[in-house]
Parts: sequence; C-alpha cells; structure tokens
Amino acid sequence: MFDTQLFKDNLNTSWLGHNFFYFEELGSTNTYAKSLNKADSLQGSLVLADKQSKGRGQYERNWESVPGENLTFSLILEPGSADRLTILTLAFSLAVADVCEVQLKSSAKLKWPNDILVEGKKIGGLLTEAIFNGSALERLIIGIGLNVNQKAFSSDLRDNATSLSILTKEDYSREKLLTAILTKAEFYYRLWLKKDIELIKSINKRLIGYGTWVKLDINGCEKEGEFKFLGINENGALVVLNKDLEVDTFSYEQIRIYPV
Ligand code: BTN
Repeated sequence: MFDTQLFKDNLNTSWLGHNFFYFEELGSTNTYAKSLNKADSLQGSLVLADKQSKGRGQYERNWESVPGENLTFSLILEPGSADRLTILTLAFSLAVADVCEVQLKSSAKLKWPNDILVEGKKIGGLLTEAIFNGSALERLIIGIGLNVNQKAFSSDLRDNATSLSILTKEDYSREKLLTAILTKAEFYYRLWLKKDIELIKSINKRLIGYGTWVKLDINGCEKEGEFKFLGINENGALVVLNKDLEVDTFSYEQIRIYPV
C-alpha cells in the first residue's frame, strides 16, 4: 500500500501535492478529480489510488495497472487560461521523463502527444482533461500513469510496455518517486507560467522524431508525403517542414507521428 506518511515526509514542493486525497481503490483518479467541488479542488490538489477499477487512457482506452505496484494519480491545476495547454501537459510529461532518467541508463523520450517511452516501450502516459465554465477554463486535470514496480504485462501490452523495475531489476519507493516528480513538475509549471523558451527547448529535445523526417496521421488520415518534425512552437502548435520547404503548423488536430 502507498505510504502516505512517507510521501508527506519527503514532499518538498511549495504547493503541488499538498492537498492530498488517497484511496486504496477508486474508479479513476481523473474522474474523481473532476467530480470534486470547487472548495476541495484547490490548485495543486493530488488524487492518488493504489488500484483503479476504471483507469482511463487516451483515445477512450483503458489504463491497465497492477494494484499497488505503480503510480496512478491526478493533479488539479488552475492555469487561468486555456492557452498553451499542450505545452503544460508536455511539461508534466517532461517531469516524469526526467525522474525516470535519473533511475535508468537509457534516456526517457516523449512521444507526441502524451506518452513516455524508454527503449521504444511505453513506461507512462498522461491524460489531460479540461473543465470549462462556459468559455472559461475552470480547472485542468492532469492524470499520470507511470509503470514502476510491475514485473509483467498482459499479452496485449507485453511487446509495447515496460516499467522501471523491468528495465533495472530493482524495486522503487513509489512515494519518493512521486515527490521527485512533483518537485520537477512544479519547477516546469513555473517556467510555463513565465513563458520561458527553455521549457520549449527541453521538451523538443525529448520529443521522438524531433529534427527528423516523419510521416503524419492527421485526424485519422495519413497525410501524403514526408515532413521534417520541428517540434512545438511557443504556442504549443506542432511545426513541420514539408518537402517544398514550406512550414505547416497544427494546433487542434489529432496528430500521430511515425518514423519514416
Ligand atoms: C495514456 O497513455 O493513454 C494515458 C494514461 C493515463 C492514465 C492515468 S492513471 C491516473 C489517471 N486516472 C485515469 O483514469 N487515467 C490517468
């Protein structure tokens, strides 16, 4: 079971994770975070469950995680405006990737839009959900799943999923890993607020395919030709160069990037 006291003793953030909701079992931490009333869902609130019975992933998929072995949690943010949210989600992915890398010999990469990969296999993923009041963004829920101590995956996932433990043959304190992630995430959140270009540069360096020729799938259709992937710009739009050396940007489309 997650040791909430050990977590609190190690937490050294200024605000992120201070308002903490822990559950042995929950449907989905994202769903719970969304259901909280305004008074409970303070900026930086953390919802963590040892077991999710209805863990949700991107594209309406399920998120599978062996109870008690991994990190499955959601953070509640009040970023004020709905601008540049892509960058904010990537900033949190970067925080997770940084913490993974400290434990690993291999690098942890970001796969557009929200996956974290090590040695070509998925170790974690993010599911960001925005709650609007009319046209105003009320709060943002960033749900994070990180495979930590899980030793095996179902046959569906086996070829494409990994965990810190599989990669290093070690076991990890989930409590300490989480405090490290929150420290990094709080730092990157500050850079995001300041519109610091260093954040964009750090994200781009970690994006799989950055600076290479790739194929694009846009809203479910493969786009003809090959494109040089130039990463994200300061607004969070995805930037590519086509073979005629024209620059295209994509902001709202569902995009997938494939190596050529
Ligand atoms: C993905 O890669 O598809 C995103 C996975 C996100 C999973 C996390 S686990 C905690 C939070 N609660 C959920 O139901 N989903 C996210």
